[in-house]
Amino acid sequence: MLQYPQLRTALLCRIFFFNPMRYRILLAIVLSGFVGLAAACAAQTVPTPSPTLSPTAIMTHGPLTGAVTANSAQIWVRTNEPARVKIQYAPRDQATAALTSNEMESGSESDLTLRIPLENLQPSTLYDVTVLVNGSRQDQKAHFKTFPPESESAPFKMVVLTDFGYHTAPLREKGDTTKSAFESAQAEDPDLVFIGGDFDHRDPKLLPDKRLMFQDLYRDDAESRVYDFARFILHQFPLAHQWDDHDYGGDNSDRHAVWRETARRVFEEYFPAYPTGKYGIYQSFRYGKDVELFVLDGRSQRDSNQMEDTPEKSMLNGEHHPDGQLQWLLDGLKNSNAVWKLVMTPSAMNNSLLKSDSWARFSHERDTILNFIRDNGIGGVIFIAGDLHGGALDNGHNARVPSVVVPSANLPLCMTVPEHKLGDWSNGVYGSAARKDKKIPCAGYGVVIIDGERARIEIKDSEGDVKLEMDVRPEDSFTGTP
Ligand SMILES: [Fe+2]
Repeated sequence: MLQYPQLRTALLCRIFFFNPMRYRILLAIVLSGFVGLAAACAAQTVPTPSPTLSPTAIMTHGPLTGAVTANSAQIWVRTNEPARVKIQYAPRDQATAALTSNEMESGSESDLTLRIPLENLQPSTLYDVTVLVNGSRQDQKAHFKTFPPESESAPFKMVVLTDFGYHTAPLREKGDTTKSAFESAQAEDPDLVFIGGDFDHRDPKLLPDKRLMFQDLYRDDAESRVYDFARFILHQFPLAHQWDDHDYGGDNSDRHAVWRETARRVFEEYFPAYPTGKYGIYQSFRYGKDVELFVLDGRSQRDSNQMEDTPEKSMLNGEHHPDGQLQWLLDGLKNSNAVWKLVMTPSAMNNSLLKSDSWARFSHERDTILNFIRDNGIGGVIFIAGDLHGGALDNGHNARVPSVVVPSANLPLCMTVPEHKLGDWSNGVYGSAARKDKKIPCAGYGVVIIDGERARIEIKDSEGDVKLEMDVRPEDSFTGTP
């Protein structure tokens, strides 16, 4: 009779040497040992070697600051090759308390651009920003001031720059001591710089051309014709932006443009905007208790300008989405408890302005908006536009609502409409529509100053001299004649 050890040995011998399944069993034992070893290895914290960070990586464009609130902001940068980027930031005079953002990696899918969020900022505080690319500090710095809390009344000053010229801007001659609109705008020390439509007029349609437009505008290069923009504005203020036809992609272009999705893609890549709408780049944001801005997308949902002016024709919601941009605007105006609602519209609002892409040619949708404002007793609405390459102000007498047109920042030619189509403006026009007289200046910028229940609008020339002015009260927004 076999004892237990003998029995065990006999069993093992049968399994390994006399059983036809023995090789499979052996293989299973070897494999299970290997898997066990692999699991044990994985459990070890063996450091993986980090890839070597490229020493040639640098920031090519930026930093610029957008989407600023009381407690947050986004820093936009672009690098020359894939790189790891982080932001060091601190309230001015507190450099020793500098914080560092999360590190993000730039890649080809977004053309090496990054929008890096900063959180938990202090309100109404001036921050200094340094960019680190693969750990190296970049020379170009930025600074910006956060907004006040939404519970707090605070004075507000906005500079509006619109309709830039890049290739078409005049070259400054050596020894020319006149100021550009950008230099004068910097001296205003605004809380926000709004860049209106036609950031450039080159009509970019293809992906590389659209990206190049932004790269050109952001160049820190003294040879650039818009160098003053980078030098005095780009790195120094919170920015917000909307497009019009010439930067969206083509003169008088609309929602039918084949490049529509490309335009939106590049806008998101190249500008640190506030959260954009479901169907376009429309945005809204708040400055303190008193001011809310509604930034319209006047192109990517627009019906053709040539379409008959029927109730169906729309500038804001040509695809007739029930939750589209028009409803978003009406709801936003009605629900806002801000004293002032600034509607940033690329196309001018004035019934008497006979321009093919202005609100006068979209009269039904215009009346829907203005009647809604009147019927709901919504005070403090001001429409602020560009597009004319000249300045104009109306207190509501002709536009039914206080209406502002900001001149081109740096173009030499005035007015995109002839004199007889310009219409009536209660507080005047800056710039001559007689285009042949190029000596009459018409470049400049707009200033919106709000202090509680008082709003003041100024149109200034490049030197910063006031050319047009208008004081507005909240109740003026629905006193115009229907
Ligand atoms: Fe323009």
